[in-house]
Amino acid sequence: MVKTTITVIKADIGSVAGHVMPHEDVIKTVEEHVSKGASEGVIIDYRVFHVGDDIFILMTHDKGTDNPDVHGLAWEAFKKGAEVAKELGLYAAGQDLLKDAFSGNVRGMGPGVAEMEIEERPAEPFVVFGADKTEPGAFNLPLFKIFADPFNTAGLVIDPRLHVGFKFEVYDIIENKRVIMSTPEEMYDLLALIGHPGRYVIKRVYHKNEKLGIAAVVSTEKLNFIAGKYVGKDDPVAIVRAQSGFPAVGEILEAFTIPHIVSGFMRGSHRGPLVPVPLRYAKVSRFDGPPRVVALGFNVKNGRLIGPVDLFDDVAFDEVRRRALMITDILRAHGPFEPEVLPLEEMEYTTLPKVLEALKDRRENIE
Ligand code: 13P
Ligand code: 13P
Ligand code: MG
Ligand code: MG
Repeated sequence: MVKTTITVIKADIGSVAGHVMPHEDVIKTVEEHVSKGASEGVIIDYRVFHVGDDIFILMTHDKGTDNPDVHGLAWEAFKKGAEVAKELGLYAAGQDLLKDAFSGNVRGMGPGVAEMEIEERPAEPFVVFGADKTEPGAFNLPLFKIFADPFNTAGLVIDPRLHVGFKFEVYDIIENKRVIMSTPEEMYDLLALIGHPGRYVIKRVYHKNEKLGIAAVVSTEKLNFIAGKYVGKDDPVAIVRAQSGFPAVGEILEAFTIPHIVSGFMRGSHRGPLVPVPLRYAKVSRFDGPPRVVALGFNVKNGRLIGPVDLFDDVAFDEVRRRALMITDILRAHGPFEPEVLPLEEMEYTTLPKVLEALKDRRENIE
């Protein structure tokens, strides 16, 4: 059985006119370097795309996860792209490249990474989700719906291969702990954690049938914790396997039809709906948002990528988009009030300490 690794590494290395989108010369530079890696045999196949100001490098290879050559290829491609971004004077050029020297894998260096090693099935469909102006926990709600909610995923009820349920690996990104929980048995306990996506983040989902193995993986790098200060949002990526024992592609996409409200809008300090968009709408401009997600569908055969299909490019998502824009207007009208602005402890920026300092002498105890 062929073992294939699907790796997506993403970074924001600079954008034109604020945090809207990268420049084509930067994307071309990244793509050329990755292409060289493919011709030298570091990887088998690749695709490069962007969502808002984040560039995503999708690669397939047979080297397993955390491979230094594969991670090094993406790191170098981003470094080269960042040089072009600096020459062009792009905004926040090199934003997500936090370290100067590469030391084996990109974890902790700024870029986000999602990867899985799989035994290819005869047909191996999967979906890559790329999001901008949000955080890894934005995938908590849709992943729960895809793999544990029978009102979303009909297969959980009617397909005997899905009926056993799935296992969720959840990270506590504050205390650096992880736990694996099993659904449907532990569904309520799981929800008690993942309903707080700023702290508890679904990292992986596994099929209970070990032959099928991993079902989904999300990038969980929190840039603001890595750097010790705010250096940009950790705009996430996810890979989800589909069909023949996993949820159907339609069940996977159905989880994005609410649209649910996530953190990461304007200055990483506001909430907005996660809008499912085709690549042509992956240019993020209104109030640096609203948060956006793109879904690209592929098959992989002996490491070769077939696709993508731009899955949200369907009129059936038009009403979701319209609803999202209506929600955006309602949230935006709250301006500096919660729930549009994030609760204090999650703010990327706040002037509150300075305001309180200035008021120090005027603040009195309440009798
Ligand atoms: P499989 O589970 O056989 O892949 O097909 C399910 C499906 O596509 C139904 O819509
Ligand atoms: P990015 O994380 O997409 O760079 O956006 C940063 C921001 O603060 C936009 O207002
Ligand atoms: Mg940016
Ligand atoms: Mg971004």
